[in-house]
Amino acid sequence: MKIAVFPGDGIGSEVTREAVRVLEALDLPGLTLFEGDVGAIAYHRHGHPLPQETLAMAKAADAILFGAVGDPSCDNLERHLRPEQAVLGLRSELGLFSNLRPATVFAGLEDMSGLRPELARTIDMLIVRELNGDVYFGDKGMRTTADGQREGWDMMSYSESEVRRIANSGFQAARKRSSRLCSVDKANVLETSQLWRDVVIETAAEYPDVELSHLYVDNAAMQLVKDPGQFDVILTGNLFGDILSDLASMCVGSIGLLASASLGERETDFGTFGLYEPIHGSAPDIAGQGKANPMATILSAAMMLRHSFGDEAQAARIEAAVAMALADGIRGGDLGGKLGTSAIGDAVLERL
Ligand code: NAI
Ligand code: MG
Repeated sequence: MKIAVFPGDGIGSEVTREAVRVLEALDLPGLTLFEGDVGAIAYHRHGHPLPQETLAMAKAADAILFGAVGDPSCDNLERHLRPEQAVLGLRSELGLFSNLRPATVFAGLEDMSGLRPELARTIDMLIVRELNGDVYFGDKGMRTTADGQREGWDMMSYSESEVRRIANSGFQAARKRSSRLCSVDKANVLETSQLWRDVVIETAAEYPDVELSHLYVDNAAMQLVKDPGQFDVILTGNLFGDILSDLASMCVGSIGLLASASLGERETDFGTFGLYEPIHGSAPDIAGQGKANPMATILSAAMMLRHSFGDEAQAARIEAAVAMALADGIRGGDLGGKLGTSAIGDAVLERL
């Protein structure tokens, strides 16, 4: 079991350290961990946020555990040298097009939600976000027009095959849950979204057992706050998924709790190759202070065991240990508590 660990910047190294401790505590047979540089730290050491040797390490692994990238020291670099390009580069180079972001409210945390507790209690959803297309990867640029104004553009586009493969991921995920899929787009205004909706409806023919609905993204944002319990699996594009999943994180209580899996089509000897990371960033405001909540990264390691190593039992064991710690009142600053990163890691390990 070869796991490439890319801690990255800011709190990335603090939170991945705790997830690695959890993986090591499981006594997994043949577990090998190797570490590589990504992000600002990679730029400062090697001149590039995603060095060739890191990419080679990623390709040789069965799964990747990723912390976070991004650092103010790189704010004025050209876009292709910015730390964030490391995660975009890994997603596209490795064909990781399907991003799974589960959001549930842990027992005892209902009062930490941005929503009323009775609404928070109903949240149990999975956001399936497309990761390889959309406005993030389209042609982009900045120019000065004839009348002397600056103009910036980012091209939004999706091909039929890109929509079809993520639609399949969404329907398959829905089948494993309560068989309800809500596709989110902006088909009333965007051609990209019209294609999205048409292809999702075509794909639905192969999944007659899944109940499909559609929402425009603005309404979806409203519905997530008004009645989050109506959602099971949400299928959406790269940009809308980015925004809606941060919104969902605040309904759950803290961004420090939300894990993610990014999967492609490559199968290894153990399961599907994937990259696992918390949905949060490098949090420069609290970096280096031992304050970050490592639970999102620990839960990402659980997702890794489930999807890349087919080990549902160990995945569930980690998730139960985190749930138990939260039920016992283990709280970092993000949840109104005082415990630091390693103390939270200790608490999860004890319960494991
Ligand atoms: P952020 O997610 O890093 O932080 C947002 C807020 O949440 C901050 O107040 C932070 O202190 C808090 N927070 C985040 N994770 C936490 C945790 N585990 N425990 C406790 N509090 C936590 O988002 P922000 O500030 O917009 O971005 C900072 C940098 O991270 C930027 O350079 C951004 O581009 C990058 N970023 C990288 C991502 C990635 O590597 N996949 C994803 C999102 C942002
Ligand atoms: Mg984001």
